[in-house]
Amino acid sequence: MRTNTRTLGSTGPRVFPLGLGCMGMSALYGEADRAESIATVHAALEAGVTLLDTGDFYAMGHNELLIGEALRTAPAARREQALLSVKFGALRDPDGDWAGYDGRPAAVKNFAAYSLQRLGTDHIDVYRIARADPDVPIEETVGAIAELVEKGYVRHIGLSEVGADTIRRAAAVAPISDLQIEYSLISRALEEEILPATRELGIGITAYGVLSRGLISGHFTADRRLAANDFRAHSPRFQGDNLRHNLGLVDALRKIAEHKGVTVAQIAIAWVLSRGEDIVPLIGARTRERLGESLGALDVTLGADDLAAIERAVPAGAAAGARYPEPQMAHLGTKE
Ligand SMILES: NC(=O)c1ccc[n+]([C@@H]2O[C@H](COP(=O)([O-])OP(=O)(O)OC[C@H]3O[C@@H](n4cnc5c(N)ncnc54)[C@H](OP(=O)(O)O)[C@@H]3O)[C@@H](O)[C@H]2O)c1
Repeated sequence: MRTNTRTLGSTGPRVFPLGLGCMGMSALYGEADRAESIATVHAALEAGVTLLDTGDFYAMGHNELLIGEALRTAPAARREQALLSVKFGALRDPDGDWAGYDGRPAAVKNFAAYSLQRLGTDHIDVYRIARADPDVPIEETVGAIAELVEKGYVRHIGLSEVGADTIRRAAAVAPISDLQIEYSLISRALEEEILPATRELGIGITAYGVLSRGLISGHFTADRRLAANDFRAHSPRFQGDNLRHNLGLVDALRKIAEHKGVTVAQIAIAWVLSRGEDIVPLIGARTRERLGESLGALDVTLGADDLAAIERAVPAGAAAGARYPEPQMAHLGTKE
């Protein structure tokens, strides 16, 4: 397995080239199996994965408690290699509905206090607001995290789904390790302005939705039934004609994968890995089987011919439907 480490920006930690995104173990993609989730975290650490990504709002603390348990029950050496990336600031109500964002300094410190407790740790490796709070200047939110860094509760400051302008303003306050943002064969909006800005400023990318939430994994089928609280039940890309069109792109990708003797998911992950050493894909695996498939992407080498064939199969902008429902698009730093 090709396991050269990557660095999160010029100031962040060295990490295994794939991170484990733990969201789906608690929320947003239907039922998950707790024991299998924990076994998946253990297997990921065993395979060398270092970065574990979570958010305090993933099932209202459930995901952090799950990671805390997985770390407590892992062998000490494995536990010590784990680096925790935590998002905060997205507000929920008891129905689970989204209720805006809070990036006020006092709220930042309050969120951090609860996360440290739930995770069972004395520090968070990368801390970031999930979306910039439109009512609080990013300078104030980042300044509050910088105070947590000074006190040793946080090691690095990250950002999530903000545009180039906000990235520059944040980086003027304190060093930023990485921007977390959706990046896949069918979500390339960051390439135009954001990626040049992060590269200029020495900020890394932790890419999520590399499989577009399973859509381009090769495992998603048009007849899949989704629970009402599954994000994909409301995502434009998973609806009707959009879904049929997008699965057509997957069929084109499948031909390339079959020709190379690998899976569609491995091609999709390897493509994101090929976009630059500054990019660390977060894999949303919640079973050991899916984890194993994802890690296999590290053995996939894409030559110039492969990359050209992939571009022909799935040109930039080929997806039908936006990556978030309309109201959520308004909180992103990209228009698409
Ligand atoms: N900053 C942000 O705004 C933001 C937003 C979303 C996510 N994230 C973070 O990024 C992480 C990854 O995002 P994501 O979960 O949307 O990514 P993803 O990897 O695009 O999607 C995960 C989905 O793909 C399916 N899948 C099929 N084959 C897979 C394989 N080989 N490996 C992994 N998954 C496979 C999984 O299905 P089954 O489990 O059903 O098989 C799961 O439903 C999240 O866990 C979260 O930590 C951040």
